[in-house]
Amino acid sequence: MSDRTFLVTGALGCIGAWVVERLLARGDRPVVFDLGSEPRRIRDLVGDEGLQRVGFFQGDIADPTELGRCMDEHSVQHVVHLAGLQVPFCRADPMAGATVNVLGTVNVFEQAARRGIGRVAYASSAAVYERDDEVRAGRAPGEEQAPHPNTHYGVYKLCNEGTARVSFLEHGTSSIGLRPLTVYGVGRDQGMTSGPTKAIKAAVVGRPYTIGFSGRTDFLYAADCAEAFIAAAEGGPEGAHVFNIAGESLEVSAFREELVRQCPEAAELVSVEGPELPVPGAIDGDALGGAIDGLTHTPLSDGIARTFERFRALHGASELHVADLDA
Ligand SMILES: NC(=O)c1ccc[n+]([C@@H]2O[C@H](COP(=O)([O-])OP(=O)(O)OC[C@H]3O[C@@H](n4cnc5c(N)ncnc54)[C@H](O)[C@@H]3O)[C@@H](O)[C@H]2O)c1
Repeated sequence: MSDRTFLVTGALGCIGAWVVERLLARGDRPVVFDLGSEPRRIRDLVGDEGLQRVGFFQGDIADPTELGRCMDEHSVQHVVHLAGLQVPFCRADPMAGATVNVLGTVNVFEQAARRGIGRVAYASSAAVYERDDEVRAGRAPGEEQAPHPNTHYGVYKLCNEGTARVSFLEHGTSSIGLRPLTVYGVGRDQGMTSGPTKAIKAAVVGRPYTIGFSGRTDFLYAADCAEAFIAAAEGGPEGAHVFNIAGESLEVSAFREELVRQCPEAAELVSVEGPELPVPGAIDGDALGGAIDGLTHTPLSDGIARTFERFRALHGASELHVADLDA
């Protein structure tokens, strides 16, 4: 029981829900700061009993007063900043994307600095790279590879990395920004790369589903991603650092094959059809392990199995949310 208070922004989303689940499992106290009010993804992981141990604050990440009040009211000690809009939303409304992703991140660093919180962990993204960055590097790009984002979303994330750097220079706030690629697991039901998780859900409920992108990508199990964010919020080297965070890189068709191996009925239901993602098919995440302790690596087959297991339990209890399969 360590009993520390972690602010988790955007924690009603997928990765945040897993951060909350991991924090509760350790005996720490998560405080959710989110624009939304429906804790469905957290409930899916920790149940109603777990929800009782979570603090909630509904607010806009770009609002200094609301975020500052949340930090003060809950005596926040550690910060995991995940609130953001993903690719399709930023593409549809770049102004809203910039407000949430860019101003929101400036706000997190400013409010943390004003309260003497000396470290922030935040979500960057592998979308800082374009696909050709893998060609330029001649291999899966590592952190030394200059990024060339080709979406507004990727540009905003690169800007966040700059905000973190300036926050260290001006306020001494240390930070670790993590760049995941395709996160999968319970709760991953929105965003450009949510298709693989939706395919598992579709197989559980017996509905046809097409994963809308093909080629290679890096599959990172959501629980492993969450553990890394928590470790990055707790400690790590001084300064503003950015790391790729990798799981397993493979073809989307190979992900489907594993899914079908575990659930043969999915052979008739799940297909893969669509263009390759505009980002590299693999990222080099080796440097992260040298900066923080406590990283976990769930093999893809186990991650898929655990996702099946939880989805089946929720489905059996008539609690599986399936509206995302129509989106
Ligand atoms: N999921 C991935 O594969 C992936 C990959 C790379 C980076 N990321 C980044 O990791 C972070 C978390 O990803 P996720 O998959 O959990 O995203 P998500 O879309 O599931 O959750 C994002 C959360 O942010 C909240 N939010 C949006 N606007 C807000 C605002 N104005 N104020 C407060 N909260 C707001 C949403 O309500 C939502 O709960 C994001 O910053 C995302 O860009 C995710």
